[in-house]
Amino acid sequence: MKAVLAFSGGLDTSVAIRILQEKYDCDVITVTVDVGQPKASIKEAEIKAKKLGVIKHYTIDAKAEFTREFLFPAIKANATYEGYPLGTALARPLIAVKTIEVAGKENAEAIAHGCTGKGNDQFRFEFTIRTKAPGLKIIAPIRDLNLTRKEEIEYAKEKGIPIQVDLNKPFSVDENLWSRSIEGGILEDPAIRPKETIYEWTISAEKAPDKPKIIEIKFERGVPVSLDGKKMAPVELIQVLRALAGKHGIGRIDIIENRIIGLKAREVYEAPAALTLITAHKQLESLVLTKDELKFKEVVDSTWSELTYKGLWFDPFKEDLDAYINKTQERVTGETTIKLFKGALLSLARSSPFALYAPEVVSFDVKSFDQREVAGMLKFHGFQAQLFESKRKKLKSKP
Ligand code: ARG
Repeated sequence: MKAVLAFSGGLDTSVAIRILQEKYDCDVITVTVDVGQPKASIKEAEIKAKKLGVIKHYTIDAKAEFTREFLFPAIKANATYEGYPLGTALARPLIAVKTIEVAGKENAEAIAHGCTGKGNDQFRFEFTIRTKAPGLKIIAPIRDLNLTRKEEIEYAKEKGIPIQVDLNKPFSVDENLWSRSIEGGILEDPAIRPKETIYEWTISAEKAPDKPKIIEIKFERGVPVSLDGKKMAPVELIQVLRALAGKHGIGRIDIIENRIIGLKAREVYEAPAALTLITAHKQLESLVLTKDELKFKEVVDSTWSELTYKGLWFDPFKEDLDAYINKTQERVTGETTIKLFKGALLSLARSSPFALYAPEVVSFDVKSFDQREVAGMLKFHGFQAQLFESKRKKLKSKP
């Protein structure tokens, strides 16, 4: 049987290749989807795949598509789940789609992934595969064999599977354009404070420059188009912003996260560009959307984020939510000024041709708006409460 494996080159998927070959009797084709992970790890995946005897290996550059079709919608939705900007959750549906495409091209019968049975990624991969390619068989070798990380390392050693187990950094890391997640090892104890060395994208607030950096981000219809007056392609803008904000200590997140199956997990993330862009975007929305739109959008945004976290990217409900979000974004055009300073993000200024801000009315210095007209409105402000209070008094005074 021919099986196409979504292959990162990490421990789980490397072990999965060998299990697929030996236990499932598969010819394995590997697919590494480039969503902005380090170039070296993509190269390494290619080399490993060959070494492990796959019949074909694909590397697919999906950075531009990932940004346009996944990260930009996430900015429009101010997407976070329990404080996490969803980097991994956003990448999984795209990786699954690219793997399905290869399966079609190669006439494969099965798709395989290296997810364990404890995490969220199995839900994201399998929902996408079942929805987009219901005829394909799904194989999850690591989950099927109920393997622990330790058993995987032993298996890799026994089978001569090349793995880098850095004893100082025994973590499970997932990295793409939007975020870097660090799990496992000593981090599994939520009472332990992580060492500085786990971080690669961000500097500590203490070591960040003493001089703040002030940046201006321009948005058009809800998506960023330029940084400090310089027009940038989507991928470049995120990469530049990631380095800039990371240098100022922005984007560290250390949380207890509620996973899909209900497990609480300690998760550490770095997401400098994501947090900066969401802060800037929210600032602009607050200027152009009405109070009711904003209030309702908070509910839509958090529902959208939860759906994405759960891997239900291709659920029609998400299309419905996108319709509302996209309608509101027609006016989210303008500029925001943000200060990056020792781990803090501060909004300094915002402007838009669609601003609902009315200086001619709100200013203390303007007389054209007659304050006296508001007095009539006050009589009925909380009118039912006024009625209730007088009724209560009456009832109390009765014998
Ligand atoms: N907790 C995050 C999520 O569910 C990060 C998962 C990282 N995945 C991984 N295979 N290392 O999206």
